[in-house]
Amino acid sequence: MPSLTVVDREGTAHTLEADAGLTLMEVIRDNGFDELLALCGGCCSCATCHIHVDPAFAAKLPAMSDDENDLLDSSEDRNETSRLSCQIPFDDALDGIKVTIARED
Ligand code: FES
Repeated sequence: MPSLTVVDREGTAHTLEADAGLTLMEVIRDNGFDELLALCGGCCSCATCHIHVDPAFAAKLPAMSDDENDLLDSSEDRNETSRLSCQIPFDDALDGIKVTIARED
């Protein structure tokens, strides 16, 4: 089972194991990180699932859609590592990935 590390808004790192096949948003939400609101449920229309992804995994992520790009533009915490976690399937290729929940806008 692949694992990932989630850094919460307090800066605390949590290492989790999760089934491949969910999105990163679902993995984070289902493990009780209430600060990741994911208000739209993964429809790419809210940007409340914003995370920062370890640059070492950037090449393994799916390409960003125009919709995701536009939504991230609405966040003051956007930088070059920003992604919407609902747009990233979690699978074995991402084993060991580290993500940080973005600041609340
Ligand atoms: S959950 Fe709304 S954009 Fe990801």
